[in-house]
Amino acid sequence: MELITVKDKDYSGKRVFVRVDFNVPLDKNLNITDDTRIRASLDTINYLLSQNAIVICSSHLGRPKGKPVLEMSLEPVAKRLSELTGKQVKFAKDCIGTEAKKVVDSAKPGDIILLENLRFHPEEEENDETFAKELAGLADCYVNDAFGSSHRAHASIVGITKFLQDKAAGFLIEKEVNALSKLLENPERPFLLIIGGAKVADKIGMIRNLLDRVDTIITGGVMAYTFIRANNWETGNSKVEIDAIPLAKEIYKELRKRHLEFHTPLDHVVADKIAEDAHYFTTERGTVPIGWTGVDIGPQAIEEYVDCIRRARTIFWNGPMGVFEIEAFAKGTIEIAKAIAATNAFSVVGGGDSIAAINKAGVADKISHICTGGGASLEFLEGKGLPGIDVLKK
Ligand code: 3PG
Repeated sequence: MELITVKDKDYSGKRVFVRVDFNVPLDKNLNITDDTRIRASLDTINYLLSQNAIVICSSHLGRPKGKPVLEMSLEPVAKRLSELTGKQVKFAKDCIGTEAKKVVDSAKPGDIILLENLRFHPEEEENDETFAKELAGLADCYVNDAFGSSHRAHASIVGITKFLQDKAAGFLIEKEVNALSKLLENPERPFLLIIGGAKVADKIGMIRNLLDRVDTIITGGVMAYTFIRANNWETGNSKVEIDAIPLAKEIYKELRKRHLEFHTPLDHVVADKIAEDAHYFTTERGTVPIGWTGVDIGPQAIEEYVDCIRRARTIFWNGPMGVFEIEAFAKGTIEIAKAIAATNAFSVVGGGDSIAAINKAGVADKISHICTGGGASLEFLEGKGLPGIDVLKK
Protein backbone atom coordinates (compact mmCIF):
# COMPACT_ATOMS: atom_id res chain seq x y z
CA MET A 1 0.00 0.00 0.00
CA GLU A 2 1.55 3.31 -1.11
CA LEU A 3 0.83 6.23 1.20
CA ILE A 4 1.60 9.92 0.88
CA THR A 5 4.02 10.46 3.76
CA VAL A 6 5.57 13.43 5.54
CA LYS A 7 8.83 12.64 3.77
CA ASP A 8 7.18 13.66 0.47
CA LYS A 9 6.57 17.21 1.74
CA ASP A 10 8.19 20.45 2.85
CA TYR A 11 6.77 21.87 6.04
CA SER A 12 9.09 24.79 6.72
CA GLY A 13 7.22 27.65 8.37
CA LYS A 14 3.85 25.94 7.79
CA ARG A 15 1.05 25.39 10.28
CA VAL A 16 0.51 21.63 10.35
CA PHE A 17 -2.63 20.04 11.83
CA VAL A 18 -1.40 16.71 13.25
CA ARG A 19 -4.11 14.24 14.24
CA VAL A 20 -2.56 12.02 16.91
CA ASP A 21 -4.07 9.32 19.09
CA PHE A 22 -3.33 10.54 22.62
CA ASN A 23 -6.21 8.48 24.02
CA VAL A 24 -4.11 7.38 27.01
CA PRO A 25 -5.21 5.84 30.31
CA LEU A 26 -5.43 8.22 33.30
CA ASP A 27 -5.80 7.29 36.98
CA LYS A 28 -8.29 9.03 39.28
CA ASN A 29 -5.78 11.80 40.01
CA LEU A 30 -5.49 12.37 36.24
CA ASN A 31 -1.96 10.99 36.06
CA ILE A 32 -1.12 9.24 32.80
CA THR A 33 -0.54 5.57 33.59
CA ASP A 34 0.85 4.59 30.18
CA ASP A 35 2.31 7.14 27.76
CA THR A 36 3.13 4.67 24.94
CA ARG A 37 0.79 6.44 22.52
CA ILE A 38 2.35 9.85 23.17
CA ARG A 39 5.87 8.47 22.69
CA ALA A 40 4.75 6.70 19.51
CA SER A 41 4.08 10.02 17.74
CA LEU A 42 7.28 11.76 18.84
CA ASP A 43 9.13 10.85 15.62
CA THR A 44 6.55 12.68 13.55
CA ILE A 45 6.28 15.66 15.92
CA ASN A 46 10.07 16.05 16.17
CA TYR A 47 10.46 15.69 12.41
CA LEU A 48 7.96 18.51 11.81
CA LEU A 49 9.68 20.66 14.45
CA SER A 50 13.01 20.06 12.77
CA GLN A 51 11.40 21.44 9.59
CA ASN A 52 10.48 24.57 11.54
CA ALA A 53 6.74 23.96 11.30
CA ILE A 54 4.07 25.09 13.77
CA VAL A 55 2.82 21.73 15.04
CA ILE A 56 -0.87 21.73 16.01
CA CYS A 57 -1.59 18.38 17.71
CA SER A 58 -5.16 17.26 18.12
CA SER A 59 -6.71 14.13 19.60
CA HIS A 60 -9.68 12.62 21.36
CA LEU A 61 -9.49 11.13 24.86
CA GLY A 62 -12.12 8.68 26.06
CA ARG A 63 -15.75 8.85 25.02
CA PRO A 64 -17.15 12.12 26.43
CA LYS A 65 -20.26 11.91 24.19
CA GLY A 66 -20.05 15.35 22.62
CA LYS A 67 -19.69 17.54 25.71
CA PRO A 68 -16.81 18.75 27.90
CA VAL A 69 -15.90 16.30 30.69
CA LEU A 70 -13.20 17.49 33.08
CA GLU A 71 -11.69 13.99 33.55
CA MET A 72 -11.26 13.67 29.77
CA SER A 73 -9.37 16.92 29.24
CA LEU A 74 -6.11 16.64 27.31
CA GLU A 75 -4.40 19.13 29.63
CA PRO A 76 -2.39 16.40 31.50
CA VAL A 77 -1.26 15.14 28.09
CA ALA A 78 0.04 18.63 27.18
CA LYS A 79 2.19 18.51 30.31
CA ARG A 80 3.56 15.06 29.45
CA LEU A 81 4.20 16.10 25.85
CA SER A 82 6.19 19.11 27.14
CA GLU A 83 8.36 16.75 29.22
CA LEU A 84 8.90 14.36 26.31
CA THR A 85 9.74 17.02 23.71
CA GLY A 86 11.61 19.36 26.05
CA LYS A 87 9.44 22.20 24.74
CA GLN A 88 6.63 24.13 26.42
CA VAL A 89 3.48 22.82 24.71
CA LYS A 90 0.82 25.52 24.34
CA PHE A 91 -2.56 24.15 25.35
CA ALA A 92 -5.73 25.49 23.69
CA LYS A 93 -8.82 25.04 25.86
CA ASP A 94 -10.97 24.28 22.82
CA CYS A 95 -10.19 22.64 19.50
CA ILE A 96 -12.14 25.22 17.44
CA GLY A 97 -13.36 28.82 17.80
CA THR A 98 -11.60 31.86 19.26
CA GLU A 99 -9.71 29.84 21.95
CA ALA A 100 -8.01 27.64 19.35
CA LYS A 101 -7.45 30.49 16.89
CA LYS A 102 -5.86 32.72 19.53
CA VAL A 103 -3.28 30.07 20.47
CA VAL A 104 -2.51 29.19 16.84
CA ASP A 105 -2.19 32.85 15.79
CA SER A 106 0.31 33.57 18.55
CA ALA A 107 2.51 30.57 17.68
CA LYS A 108 5.89 30.79 15.98
CA PRO A 109 7.64 28.23 13.77
CA GLY A 110 9.03 25.49 16.01
CA ASP A 111 6.14 25.74 18.53
CA ILE A 112 3.90 22.85 19.57
CA ILE A 113 0.23 23.31 20.36
CA LEU A 114 -2.18 20.74 21.74
CA LEU A 115 -5.89 21.38 21.18
CA GLU A 116 -8.51 20.27 23.72
CA ASN A 117 -10.38 16.96 23.22
CA LEU A 118 -12.05 16.83 19.79
CA ARG A 119 -14.90 14.72 21.14
CA PHE A 120 -16.10 17.53 23.41
CA HIS A 121 -17.96 18.47 20.21
CA PRO A 122 -20.53 15.95 18.89
CA GLU A 123 -19.67 17.07 15.34
CA GLU A 124 -16.30 15.27 15.52
CA GLU A 125 -17.85 11.78 15.57
CA GLU A 126 -20.58 12.88 13.12
CA ASN A 127 -17.87 13.78 10.58
CA ASP A 128 -19.65 17.13 10.32
CA GLU A 129 -18.49 19.21 7.38
CA THR A 130 -18.67 22.65 9.06
CA PHE A 131 -16.70 21.35 12.05
CA ALA A 132 -14.11 19.73 9.76
CA LYS A 133 -13.76 23.05 7.91
CA GLU A 134 -13.21 24.91 11.20
CA LEU A 135 -10.45 22.48 12.20
CA ALA A 136 -8.88 22.80 8.77
CA GLY A 137 -8.99 26.62 9.03
CA LEU A 138 -6.34 26.45 11.78
CA ALA A 139 -3.66 25.05 9.49
CA ASP A 140 -2.03 24.98 6.03
CA CYS A 141 -1.62 21.20 5.84
CA TYR A 142 -2.71 17.95 7.46
CA VAL A 143 -0.81 14.99 8.88
CA ASN A 144 -2.49 11.91 10.32
CA ASP A 145 -0.41 9.96 12.83
CA ALA A 146 -3.38 8.55 14.75
CA PHE A 147 -3.27 4.94 13.63
CA GLY A 148 -5.41 3.87 16.61
CA SER A 149 -8.26 6.13 15.42
CA SER A 150 -7.99 5.58 11.68
CA HIS A 151 -10.89 3.11 11.65
CA ARG A 152 -13.18 5.99 12.67
CA ALA A 153 -14.63 8.12 9.86
CA HIS A 154 -14.59 11.22 12.05
CA ALA A 155 -14.15 14.90 11.14
CA SER A 156 -10.48 15.10 12.20
CA ILE A 157 -9.67 11.85 10.39
CA VAL A 158 -11.68 12.01 7.17
CA GLY A 159 -13.76 15.23 6.83
CA ILE A 160 -10.79 17.54 7.30
CA THR A 161 -8.96 16.13 4.25
CA LYS A 162 -11.59 17.70 1.99
CA PHE A 163 -10.41 21.14 3.15
CA LEU A 164 -6.71 20.46 3.66
CA GLN A 165 -5.68 18.74 0.50
CA ASP A 166 -2.02 18.95 1.45
CA LYS A 167 -2.20 15.74 3.49
CA ALA A 168 0.17 12.97 4.54
CA ALA A 169 0.63 10.01 6.86
CA GLY A 170 3.02 10.42 9.79
CA PHE A 171 5.78 7.95 10.61
CA LEU A 172 3.64 5.99 13.07
CA ILE A 173 0.91 5.29 10.51
CA GLU A 174 3.55 4.28 8.00
CA LYS A 175 5.18 1.91 10.50
CA GLU A 176 1.87 0.35 11.55
CA VAL A 177 0.65 -0.14 7.99
CA ASN A 178 3.96 -1.70 6.93
CA ALA A 179 4.03 -4.13 9.87
CA LEU A 180 0.39 -5.20 9.56
CA SER A 181 0.63 -5.48 5.77
CA LYS A 182 3.52 -7.89 6.26
CA LEU A 183 1.10 -10.21 8.11
CA LEU A 184 -1.41 -10.08 5.25
CA GLU A 185 0.92 -10.14 2.27
CA ASN A 186 3.13 -13.16 2.00
CA PRO A 187 4.03 -13.74 5.68
CA GLU A 188 6.95 -16.06 6.30
CA ARG A 189 5.61 -19.51 7.32
CA PRO A 190 4.86 -21.04 9.70
CA PHE A 191 2.59 -18.17 10.75
CA LEU A 192 1.25 -18.47 14.30
CA LEU A 193 -1.82 -16.57 15.51
CA ILE A 194 -2.17 -16.23 19.28
CA ILE A 195 -5.56 -14.99 20.41
CA GLY A 196 -6.75 -14.47 23.93
CA GLY A 197 -8.64 -11.97 26.01
CA ALA A 198 -12.33 -11.18 25.59
CA LYS A 199 -14.39 -9.42 22.85
CA VAL A 200 -14.56 -12.68 20.91
CA ALA A 201 -17.10 -11.39 18.38
CA ASP A 202 -14.85 -8.39 17.55
CA LYS A 203 -11.96 -10.73 16.74
CA ILE A 204 -13.79 -13.31 14.64
CA GLY A 205 -13.52 -11.22 11.43
CA MET A 206 -9.76 -10.98 11.89
CA ILE A 207 -9.44 -14.73 12.55
CA ARG A 208 -11.52 -15.53 9.48
CA ASN A 209 -9.42 -13.27 7.24
CA LEU A 210 -6.18 -14.79 8.53
CA LEU A 211 -7.30 -18.42 8.10
CA ASP A 212 -5.84 -18.53 4.58
CA ARG A 213 -2.50 -17.23 5.82
CA VAL A 214 -1.85 -18.88 9.19
CA ASP A 215 -0.59 -22.39 9.94
CA THR A 216 -1.30 -22.57 13.66
CA ILE A 217 -3.70 -20.90 16.10
CA ILE A 218 -3.40 -21.01 19.87
CA THR A 219 -6.02 -19.59 22.22
CA GLY A 220 -6.31 -18.41 25.80
CA GLY A 221 -8.55 -16.33 28.05
CA VAL A 222 -12.26 -15.88 27.36
CA MET A 223 -11.54 -16.63 23.70
CA ALA A 224 -10.39 -20.16 24.62
CA TYR A 225 -13.34 -20.82 26.95
CA THR A 226 -15.75 -19.78 24.21
CA PHE A 227 -14.16 -22.26 21.79
CA ILE A 228 -14.05 -24.96 24.48
CA ARG A 229 -17.76 -24.47 25.19
CA ALA A 230 -18.49 -24.53 21.43
CA ASN A 231 -16.99 -28.06 21.59
CA ASN A 232 -19.41 -28.93 24.41
CA TRP A 233 -16.68 -29.29 27.02
CA GLU A 234 -17.25 -28.18 30.61
CA THR A 235 -15.96 -24.71 31.51
CA GLY A 236 -17.34 -24.38 35.06
CA ASN A 237 -17.87 -20.73 35.91
CA SER A 238 -15.29 -19.49 33.40
CA LYS A 239 -16.31 -16.45 31.41
CA VAL A 240 -17.71 -17.50 28.05
CA GLU A 241 -19.20 -15.22 25.36
CA ILE A 242 -22.36 -17.19 24.73
CA ASP A 243 -23.42 -15.02 21.77
CA ALA A 244 -20.14 -15.81 20.01
CA ILE A 245 -20.51 -19.63 20.27
CA PRO A 246 -22.17 -19.98 16.83
CA LEU A 247 -19.28 -17.95 15.36
CA ALA A 248 -16.77 -20.20 17.13
CA LYS A 249 -18.54 -23.26 15.65
CA GLU A 250 -18.24 -21.75 12.17
CA ILE A 251 -14.54 -21.16 12.71
CA TYR A 252 -14.12 -24.82 13.78
CA LYS A 253 -15.69 -25.89 10.46
CA GLU A 254 -13.31 -23.64 8.51
CA LEU A 255 -10.34 -24.98 10.49
CA ARG A 256 -11.26 -28.57 9.67
CA LYS A 257 -11.63 -27.75 5.97
CA ARG A 258 -8.13 -26.27 5.91
CA HIS A 259 -6.52 -28.87 8.25
CA LEU A 260 -5.04 -26.08 10.37
CA GLU A 261 -3.36 -26.73 13.72
CA PHE A 262 -5.65 -25.25 16.38
CA HIS A 263 -5.19 -25.40 20.13
CA THR A 264 -7.28 -24.66 23.16
CA PRO A 265 -5.36 -25.01 26.46
CA LEU A 266 -4.72 -28.61 27.59
CA ASP A 267 -5.04 -27.49 31.21
CA HIS A 268 -6.11 -24.46 33.20
CA VAL A 269 -5.51 -22.72 36.48
CA VAL A 270 -8.94 -22.38 38.08
CA ALA A 271 -9.83 -20.16 41.05
CA ASP A 272 -12.77 -19.79 43.43
CA LYS A 273 -12.80 -16.02 42.79
CA ILE A 274 -10.87 -13.44 40.81
CA ALA A 275 -8.89 -11.86 43.63
CA GLU A 276 -5.36 -11.80 45.06
CA ASP A 277 -6.43 -14.05 47.96
CA ALA A 278 -8.29 -16.63 45.83
CA HIS A 279 -7.83 -20.39 46.25
CA TYR A 280 -6.67 -21.99 43.01
CA PHE A 281 -5.45 -25.24 41.46
CA THR A 282 -4.68 -26.71 38.04
CA THR A 283 -7.05 -28.97 36.15
CA GLU A 284 -7.26 -30.64 32.72
CA ARG A 285 -9.28 -29.20 29.83
CA GLY A 286 -12.99 -29.99 30.11
CA THR A 287 -12.84 -30.64 33.85
CA VAL A 288 -13.34 -27.16 35.32
CA PRO A 289 -15.68 -27.77 38.26
CA ILE A 290 -18.88 -25.76 38.71
CA GLY A 291 -18.14 -22.79 40.96
CA TRP A 292 -14.56 -22.48 39.70
CA THR A 293 -13.33 -20.03 37.08
CA GLY A 294 -10.51 -20.47 34.57
CA VAL A 295 -7.99 -17.69 35.21
CA ASP A 296 -4.86 -18.82 33.34
CA ILE A 297 -3.53 -21.55 31.09
CA GLY A 298 -1.84 -24.44 32.94
CA PRO A 299 1.73 -25.83 32.68
CA GLN A 300 0.97 -28.38 29.93
CA ALA A 301 -0.65 -25.67 27.82
CA ILE A 302 2.34 -23.38 28.39
CA GLU A 303 4.70 -26.13 27.22
CA GLU A 304 2.64 -26.82 24.11
CA TYR A 305 2.24 -23.12 23.27
CA VAL A 306 5.93 -22.33 23.77
CA ASP A 307 6.71 -25.15 21.34
CA CYS A 308 4.35 -23.58 18.74
CA ILE A 309 6.06 -20.22 19.27
CA ARG A 310 9.53 -21.72 18.79
CA ARG A 311 8.48 -23.23 15.45
CA ALA A 312 6.92 -20.01 14.08
CA ARG A 313 8.53 -17.55 11.64
CA THR A 314 5.69 -15.00 11.87
CA ILE A 315 3.61 -14.34 15.00
CA PHE A 316 0.62 -12.11 15.70
CA TRP A 317 -0.56 -11.93 19.31
CA ASN A 318 -3.75 -10.24 20.52
CA GLY A 319 -5.19 -10.80 24.01
CA PRO A 320 -3.82 -12.28 27.25
CA MET A 321 -3.99 -15.95 28.33
CA GLY A 322 -5.65 -15.16 31.67
CA VAL A 323 -6.18 -12.61 34.41
CA PHE A 324 -2.53 -11.52 34.28
CA GLU A 325 -3.17 -8.40 36.40
CA ILE A 326 -3.20 -10.80 39.39
CA GLU A 327 0.30 -12.14 40.06
CA ALA A 328 -0.76 -15.76 40.71
CA PHE A 329 -2.59 -15.91 37.35
CA ALA A 330 0.00 -14.11 35.22
CA LYS A 331 2.35 -17.02 34.48
CA GLY A 332 0.75 -18.18 31.20
CA THR A 333 0.62 -14.70 29.68
CA ILE A 334 4.15 -13.79 30.82
CA GLU A 335 5.62 -17.09 29.54
CA ILE A 336 4.01 -16.44 26.14
CA ALA A 337 5.48 -12.92 26.09
CA LYS A 338 8.95 -14.24 26.98
CA ALA A 339 8.77 -17.05 24.42
CA ILE A 340 7.84 -14.61 21.64
CA ALA A 341 10.69 -12.34 22.70
CA ALA A 342 13.13 -15.27 22.52
CA THR A 343 12.38 -16.14 18.87
CA ASN A 344 13.79 -14.62 15.70
CA ALA A 345 10.32 -14.65 14.17
CA PHE A 346 8.71 -11.46 12.88
CA SER A 347 6.39 -10.68 15.80
CA VAL A 348 3.53 -8.22 16.07
CA VAL A 349 1.62 -7.62 19.29
CA GLY A 350 -1.66 -5.67 19.37
CA GLY A 351 -4.34 -4.81 21.91
CA GLY A 352 -3.92 -2.89 25.17
CA ASP A 353 -3.73 -5.95 27.46
CA SER A 354 -1.15 -7.84 25.42
CA ILE A 355 1.00 -4.72 25.27
CA ALA A 356 0.68 -4.31 29.06
CA ALA A 357 1.76 -7.97 29.38
CA ILE A 358 4.77 -7.40 27.11
CA ASN A 359 5.74 -4.42 29.27
CA LYS A 360 5.19 -6.41 32.47
CA ALA A 361 7.47 -9.16 31.13
CA GLY A 362 10.06 -6.46 30.28
CA VAL A 363 10.47 -7.65 26.69
CA ALA A 364 9.00 -4.78 24.62
CA ASP A 365 12.32 -4.16 22.84
CA LYS A 366 12.41 -7.79 21.63
CA ILE A 367 9.12 -7.54 19.72
CA SER A 368 9.32 -6.61 16.02
CA HIS A 369 6.28 -4.33 16.18
CA ILE A 370 3.93 -3.21 18.95
CA CYS A 371 0.61 -1.89 17.60
CA THR A 372 -0.79 1.29 19.14
CA GLY A 373 -4.28 0.58 17.83
CA GLY A 374 -6.54 -2.16 19.21
CA GLY A 375 -9.73 -1.83 17.14
CA ALA A 376 -7.85 -0.32 14.21
CA SER A 377 -5.40 -3.22 13.96
CA LEU A 378 -8.22 -5.78 14.15
CA GLU A 379 -10.14 -4.03 11.36
CA PHE A 380 -6.98 -3.75 9.27
CA LEU A 381 -6.28 -7.47 9.66
CA GLU A 382 -9.91 -8.21 8.94
CA GLY A 383 -9.07 -6.89 5.46
CA LYS A 384 -11.34 -3.86 5.81
CA GLY A 385 -10.03 -0.58 4.47
CA LEU A 386 -9.57 1.98 7.25
CA PRO A 387 -11.24 5.29 6.28
CA GLY A 388 -8.40 7.34 7.77
CA ILE A 389 -5.78 5.40 5.79
CA ASP A 390 -7.79 5.26 2.55
CA VAL A 391 -7.71 9.07 2.28
CA LEU A 392 -3.89 9.05 2.51
CA LYS A 393 -3.25 6.63 -0.36
CA LYS A 394 -1.18 7.85 -3.31
C1 3PG B 1 -8.62 3.31 20.84
O1 3PG B 1 -8.33 3.47 22.03
O2 3PG B 1 -8.79 2.18 20.34
C2 3PG B 1 -8.68 4.51 19.94
O3 3PG B 1 -8.21 5.66 20.57
C3 3PG B 1 -10.09 4.72 19.41
O4 3PG B 1 -10.97 4.99 20.47
P1 3PG B 1 -12.53 4.72 20.30
O5 3PG B 1 -12.73 3.23 20.28
O6 3PG B 1 -13.19 5.40 21.48
O7 3PG B 1 -12.96 5.34 18.99
